[in-house]
Amino acid sequence: MSREQLKKELEARLDRSKMPTHIGIIMDGNGRWAKNLGKSRLKGHQQGARGIKAIIRYANAIGIKHVSLYAFSVENWSRPAFEVYALMKLLKTYLIQQRNELHEEGVVFRLVGRRDNLPAEIIKEAEISTKLMQNNTGLNLNLCFNYGGRAEIVDAVKKIVQSGISPDKITEETIRQNLYWPEIPDVDLMIRTSGEMRTSNFHLWRCAYSELYFTPVFWPDFDEAELLNAILAFQGRERRFGLTSAQLGSQES
Ligand code: IPE
Ligand code: IPE
Ligand code: MG
Repeated sequence: MSREQLKKELEARLDRSKMPTHIGIIMDGNGRWAKNLGKSRLKGHQQGARGIKAIIRYANAIGIKHVSLYAFSVENWSRPAFEVYALMKLLKTYLIQQRNELHEEGVVFRLVGRRDNLPAEIIKEAEISTKLMQNNTGLNLNLCFNYGGRAEIVDAVKKIVQSGISPDKITEETIRQNLYWPEIPDVDLMIRTSGEMRTSNFHLWRCAYSELYFTPVFWPDFDEAELLNAILAFQGRERRFGLTSAQLGSQES
């Protein structure tokens, strides 16, 4: 069966009433994908960046409202300087080249992460994209770059302390409102490619009740059929949020 036929078949099994609102993707395995083909790690990153378009377009077409892509973690600065440089350059190229197409598809764009140590030109290009797409109503693409879940919580705490709020007024909602982009909802489905089974500091606050999905497929090979497999697995799960199955059953009836 071709990938296209498989995609059609999987798509027919989707329950449109149980779609995840927010999918987080840890796009891992670019380096190993390249190594397996005798290519450089940078080729792996290029191929990985190329694949983003199809996934975003398809997620938008099937009605997903938020996709967060983990593209560079705060820990990734410790990689060899040439790789870090290449990833910065790749992001800048991506922002410029994909802007109009994303806009035409009605996507809303955000760069999510720490900004103070990012090159100014990246911030500038990201802001142009965000502004261009701010009134769109399609999928929200949250590109997590220079992102760390702990860094995000630390930065939120700093803002809360600076606001002078009294400690007894602090609730979970206070923290949520001080995350990088408060409008980004909790992650429903967290996907990690490449067979690694960890969260690597991604979306810590928003993944408290995420369903986790791991696939051995390397990110450059992750296609629409793979995305559908993940969503179908999600739809087969029972999300209990601390309740019992019986309670959920009675809520439904
Ligand atoms: C993910 O691929 C991309 C980034 C972390 C920037 P990797 O570069 O981590 O690929 P592997 O894990 O070495 O295969
Ligand atoms: C996580 O991948 C970060 C991104 C995908 C951007 P890593 O490859 O950096 O994670 P670890 O180091 O294997 O946990
Ligand atoms: Mg990796």
